[in-house]
Amino acid sequence: MAISKTFLSIFSILSLILLFIFSSLTVAEDSHLFHKTISPTLLDLHKEKLSHLHFYFHDIVSGPKPTAVNVAQAQMTNKSPTGFGMVTMTDDPLTSSPEPDSKLVGKAQGIYASAAQDEIGLLMVMNFAFTEGKYNGSTLSVLGRNTVFSAVREIPIVGGSGLFRFSRGYAKAKTHTFDLKTGDAVVEYNVYVFHY
Ligand SMILES: *[C@@H]1O[C@H](CO)[C@@H](O)[C@H](O)[C@H]1NC(C)=O
Repeated sequence: MAISKTFLSIFSILSLILLFIFSSLTVAEDSHLFHKTISPTLLDLHKEKLSHLHFYFHDIVSGPKPTAVNVAQAQMTNKSPTGFGMVTMTDDPLTSSPEPDSKLVGKAQGIYASAAQDEIGLLMVMNFAFTEGKYNGSTLSVLGRNTVFSAVREIPIVGGSGLFRFSRGYAKAKTHTFDLKTGDAVVEYNVYVFHY
């Protein structure tokens, strides 16, 4: 009787120890699966390079087939001299030359919104989705401020996909033409990005 009791308690202590070892192993394995350091070459990331892209952004708000449409505004937007609160969704063509029928290299898909009350200042949140050449299918993500009546605006590029994975850089935007009557604009973009 005394022996089997001792045996039982030794057995339960051993099971507890085993359980402890096993569960700590499981925890270690879980955290290993959750995150680990890897070599950049595993993702084919060899040498970072700098690219310059040059294209024209066509913001067409008038006519039968606008590429930029207002989707929301505040009650006071119409009374605001800067259109504060206006939100516009774009699917604006990006072309190789200023002419609208020049080679299409991508689309600027996203939102610009009037975010300033004392001057014309847009918040730009969009993706440049490229469709031409080796960058077909790759995108750049744009997030920045665009004071459209300044001669040159600098807008950050905060990321990208495809060949533009790990991108960061900036765009210089310069109005090429702005039609005061229709509101249509053609903007020249020079984009500089680091990527792999
Ligand atoms: C871009 O890629 C798409 C999808 O793979 C393809 O359908 C299209 O023809 C390509 N465009 C160009 C200009 O290569």
